[in-house]
Amino acid sequence: MEEIKITKPDDWHVHFRDEIILKAVVPETSRHFARAIVMPNLIPPIVTETQAIEYKKRIKKAIPKTDKFKPFMTIYLTETVNRKQLKEAYNNGTVFAAKLYPAGATTNSDSGVKDIKKIMPTLETMAEIGMPLLIHGEVTDKAIDIFDREKKFLDTTLEFIRQRLPQLKITLEHITTKESVSYINESNKNLVASITPHHLALNRNALFVGGIKPHNYCLPILKREIHRKALINVATSGNPKFFLGSDTAPHFSHDKESECGCAGIFNATNCLSVLAQIFDNYKSIDKLENFVSINGSTHYGLKKNKQSITLIKEYKPVLFKKELLINSNSIKVFDPGIKLFWKIKS
Ligand code: DOR
Ligand code: ZN
Repeated sequence: MEEIKITKPDDWHVHFRDEIILKAVVPETSRHFARAIVMPNLIPPIVTETQAIEYKKRIKKAIPKTDKFKPFMTIYLTETVNRKQLKEAYNNGTVFAAKLYPAGATTNSDSGVKDIKKIMPTLETMAEIGMPLLIHGEVTDKAIDIFDREKKFLDTTLEFIRQRLPQLKITLEHITTKESVSYINESNKNLVASITPHHLALNRNALFVGGIKPHNYCLPILKREIHRKALINVATSGNPKFFLGSDTAPHFSHDKESECGCAGIFNATNCLSVLAQIFDNYKSIDKLENFVSINGSTHYGLKKNKQSITLIKEYKPVLFKKELLINSNSIKVFDPGIKLFWKIKS
């Protein structure tokens, strides 16, 4: 049996939803993670400080007493966002970051931004006060192929923002392509990226080969193997510009196994085991701590966690629950398609 002890991890991108789903999924994250950035794409979205405060209260109620876990709240940027109120919320410490969803890019993004120029004054304010901008980096132009939407976003929107505001702290979230890896590597220290376990584990074959697989549908969509390899190489290298943002995104199975299935993969339950297995398979288990516990907090100017966790490699595959059941509705847990031998010592 092998064991490693690492600083307690943080997850810099989670979806907790609300009400019964929130109650079921928060413990799956708070069990192993010390902190997480919570996405604001509820219906309706979190656009004010008051909404963020109220949402945080609901999250805190769902954290089991035995877990020490801190949710960091975000505001959903719209073209009519109030700069003064956003600044106040950040300075009060109630809101940690703002999220940019191009309108229509993904789940619950209809109130997002259509014209980036409209929010440039807000982004200027954010750059001045040091407030992080989190980006779903895909264009929404119907003429652009879904597999090219991230690359196109780099060349157009992201380049536009960075030319004007190089001092703005940006996280390009859930990157999926070799072009994003290069773009981040070539940029200044203010631009970093998060990577999900599912984009490290799967390529686009996992969507289509042997039949359509709605549970592997997420956005940005899975890409070719060459892109997955680029993500693996950079994540397992220890490069401080890249860190975990799981994008754990629960949807009921009946909403995914549908004529128009929802995008999102729920991976909180086995996230760390999947990552440990992938890092181990690529002979880089020694770099896991950088990716899950160090690089993100360093970028956000936070101290690393004082607590630690121990991961154990078993001789036999570790079995996880396959689904969460909520009033007889199921949320399926991510299947990475590889055997998992790593688990967290309780
Ligand atoms: O797959 C995704 N699901 N990607 C996103 O950007 C949003 C998320 C969700 O909210 O379900
Ligand atoms: Zn997300």
